[in-house]
Amino acid sequence: MANLDAPKIKLQPVSVTRKMAASLPGLRDLAQKNGLKIHHLGAGYPHPEVTDPRGFLQHQQAYINFVINSEGLNDPNAVPEILRETYSYTDTLGPKTSRDAFAKVYGADWGVDIDPEQLIPTVGASGGINLICSLFERPGAPVAYLSDAPTYAGFTARVGLCQHARIYSVDMDEEGAIPAQFRTRIHQARADGYFVPFYYTVPDGHNPAGFSFSQKRREQLLAVAREEGLLIVEDAPYLYINYAQAADRAQPFFAMAPEQTVHLFTGSKIGFPGPRIGFLYSEASLTINGGEVVPLTQLAMTEASSDVLFQNPQALRGFEALLHDQDDTGNFVLREGMWPLAEQKLLVYRENRQILLDTLEEELGDHKDCFSWTIPQAGFFSVFTFLRGTAKTDDNFIQRLVAEYGVVVVPMYDFYPADARVRNPNAGLDQLRVSFCFSESTGDARRKDLKEAVLAFCAAVKKESGR
Ligand SMILES: Cc1ncc(COP(=O)(O)O)c(C=O)c1O
Repeated sequence: MANLDAPKIKLQPVSVTRKMAASLPGLRDLAQKNGLKIHHLGAGYPHPEVTDPRGFLQHQQAYINFVINSEGLNDPNAVPEILRETYSYTDTLGPKTSRDAFAKVYGADWGVDIDPEQLIPTVGASGGINLICSLFERPGAPVAYLSDAPTYAGFTARVGLCQHARIYSVDMDEEGAIPAQFRTRIHQARADGYFVPFYYTVPDGHNPAGFSFSQKRREQLLAVAREEGLLIVEDAPYLYINYAQAADRAQPFFAMAPEQTVHLFTGSKIGFPGPRIGFLYSEASLTINGGEVVPLTQLAMTEASSDVLFQNPQALRGFEALLHDQDDTGNFVLREGMWPLAEQKLLVYRENRQILLDTLEEELGDHKDCFSWTIPQAGFFSVFTFLRGTAKTDDNFIQRLVAEYGVVVVPMYDFYPADARVRNPNAGLDQLRVSFCFSESTGDARRKDLKEAVLAFCAAVKKESGR
């Protein structure tokens, strides 16, 4: 094996979710040896019941046939344009038809007049995070991002890749990140010599915090961002996995202030995670080297063209098919919005969420001096807290839950950025992330499995905290 001298390269810490995934087979064996069933309350994956691709594949094929017929080819041997395009190199922006369709449908849902030329396709929201970070990291100057404590592990991991980037985190209360602290941390980062381009957050169905920011709090945070001159990067995977009534839903930042926001859309939750669909959208502009003012998306486009370079046209065309509905005459028409698609997913998630919340209330409602949990208005997670130091949710605790009760949940401590753990060394060590999105079973078996899982969880936390 060649041994290269690479003193500048540091080992990245392995995230707790990855560590758990690696240790799960061993723990599962141990639990099974103890005669226990494994209860899934850990994974943040879309449910198999609402990600069966078979219906989608039929729909996609019918859409492609419809487009081919609409092309009206006279020569039966000619390769239809859509097929040629779908299996060729496309450009960095992907097929225009897909962006046009998405701009109309998404724009209609959120009251934003989306310019399809400002939509940059990304490899899911993960690709959007990567794109916006690398855009600001490329110049090589120390850069600081504001984010929540706790924040999304994928964001922390991405920031960790850049040795001149770091996170300044903002604590949250039950309405969202605390505005006064937001401002203080921006000032702190600047005083420490960092360039501060944006605040990254997940305001709807926060992963991992298990709640949505209130409308009032969004307005306060936006006011600070405007006054301080930084962007809000809004990661929005759970915008449609929403349990609130339409009138009670807060507005996403990009609908409130598209010129201050970088919005990251993903097809992973509303469609399928496998095809890796995402779009970055922003109406922000930046004053760059030499004083020139340019649209952020222009910079994102050149960044993307040196990164992914070619989008996957087949995946984007598939997503475009999802944005169309077939009418009674067989024609495909653009959907008026994406909520009917969301509704298909919500049938399962809404029910699962209710099973979780009802069971927690039934089993632990009499112990609210000891336990609390968030009521998620969107997303896949609730955060469960042990009050008054009744348990320490470290790795040993998590392993014991699997080995002795068969219960898989994710500890929260690793979701707190490093500075949050300096402020409070016990940050997250009284919390668990409980997910209700995933199980291996479907239908009645899914309901029964989830109920059993939450019952097992409740029994475990009562026993572990001496109740
Ligand atoms: C907050 C957040 N951002 C990004 C992602 C990654 O999504 P994608 O599949 O779009 O890359 C997830 C997935 O769970 C998430 O919860």
